[in-house]
Amino acid sequence: MSSNGKDRAVAAGLKLPIYLDNHATTPLDPRVLDAMLPYLTGKFGNAASHSHSFGWEAEAAVEAARMHVAALIGASPAEIVFTSGATESDNLAVKGVAEALADQGDHIITLTTEHKAILDSCKRLEKSKRCRVTFLPVLPDGLLDLDQFQKAFTDRTILVTIMAANNETGVLQPIEEIGRICRERGVLFHSDAVQAMGKLPIDVKTANLDLVSLTAHKYYGPKGCGALYVRQHPNVRVAPLIDGGGHEHAMRSGTLNVAGIVGFGKACEIARAEMAEESCRIAGLRNRLRDRLLAELDEVIINGHMELRLPGNLNMSFLHVDGESLMGAISDIAVSSSSACSSGTPQPSYVLKALGLSDAAANVAIRFGVGRFNTEAEIDYAATCVIEAVKKLRERSPQYSSARQNDSTGKP
Ligand SMILES: Cc1ncc(COP(=O)(O)O)c(C=O)c1O
Repeated sequence: MSSNGKDRAVAAGLKLPIYLDNHATTPLDPRVLDAMLPYLTGKFGNAASHSHSFGWEAEAAVEAARMHVAALIGASPAEIVFTSGATESDNLAVKGVAEALADQGDHIITLTTEHKAILDSCKRLEKSKRCRVTFLPVLPDGLLDLDQFQKAFTDRTILVTIMAANNETGVLQPIEEIGRICRERGVLFHSDAVQAMGKLPIDVKTANLDLVSLTAHKYYGPKGCGALYVRQHPNVRVAPLIDGGGHEHAMRSGTLNVAGIVGFGKACEIARAEMAEESCRIAGLRNRLRDRLLAELDEVIINGHMELRLPGNLNMSFLHVDGESLMGAISDIAVSSSSACSSGTPQPSYVLKALGLSDAAANVAIRFGVGRFNTEAEIDYAATCVIEAVKKLRERSPQYSSARQNDSTGKP
C-alpha cells in the first residue's frame, strides 16, 4: 500500500495490521470473555469436588456449557467429551477407535488433505503395525471422489475419518453422503469439523456421524479447549489416551478446564443464535475481496471448489511473483501463506499439492480467512494492498512478461 493510502486509511480509523487469518484462530468474543472471567477468579472450584459449593458451582457451569456444545451439533450433552483441543480430539478418535475395535478390524480410510492431527495419528498406527490406512487422493477441486471412496472399504475397515471443511481451502466434503455410506456398511464415521462448526449447520444425526472433533478457538472461544462427540445408542467404543481419575466417562482423565469450557459453551451458544446471519455477512465480505482481486489482477487461480467452500475462505495463487516477497509486501494484513517453513526452506502446502498444483503455484498461494470482526473498510484495504503489491512485484518478473506475451500471441 502506498504510504499516502496507508496514512489516509489510518486517519479514517482503520487499525493495522488487519487480521484475516481466522482459520488459524479467532479473537475471543468479548461476550465469551465476560462469561469466563468469574471462573478464573471467585468461582475457581474443581468440577470434580463433590463435597462443597465451590465444586458444585463449577460442575453446574460445566454441565450448562456441555449442553450448549451438544446443541450446536444436535447431540445430547452426555455425548460430549471435553479435551484440550482438536489435536487431542483427533488423536483420541483415531487411536481410541483403533484400540477399542482391534478385535473387529484394522483398516482406516482417510484423505490426503486431512489435518496433520489425523494424518500423523494414522501414520503412527501404521508404523506400529496396528492398522493399515488408505489415504485417498482428492479431485482437483479438493472434493472426495465418492466412487473411489466406496471401493476403498474392505471387510477389515473399522473407521472412516474425513473432515467437514478443509483448513486451507475451505472445501466442504459431502459429509451426509459419506455418513450414509459408512452407516450402510456398519463402519464408524469420524469427522474433524473444526473449521465448519459455528459457520455451517452440522447435525450428527442427519450426517450419521459417530465421532466429531471440535475446538473452541476457531469460533471466538478460548484456546486449549475442545471436545470429541462420541455417539451413544448404540455406544461407540473409544479407548482413552489419558488415564487417571476417570473424568469424562473415563475417556479423558484430568481436572476440567472450567473457565475454558464455560467460554466454549458461550461461543457455541452465540454461534447457534447468529450463524445464519453471520455466515451470510462473512460470505459477502469474502466475495467482495475475491471480486476485486479478480477484476484487477490477471494470472491468478482460486484453489479449491468455489461454491462448496466455507463462507469466510478464499485461497488464491498469484502467479509470477515470489511468495516470500509477496508476504513481505503485504505485512499490513495478517494472512497465511500456504507454504510451511521446515528447516528454513519453504515447503509447498501438501493440501494444494494434493489438488494438483505445481510447486510454483502452491508457493504463491495465500489463504484469506474472513471472520466475525472484519469490516468492509478492512476488506477494501486488504484488496488494495494485495493488488498494489502483486502489480509492483510483477513489474520485475520476466515470467509474468512472457506469460502476457504468450496470452496475446495465443501461444501456450
Ligand atoms: C482442521 C483442523 N483440525 C485440527 C486442528 C487443531 O486444533 P487445535 O488447535 O484445537 O489443536 C486445526 C487447527 O489448526 C484445524 O484447522
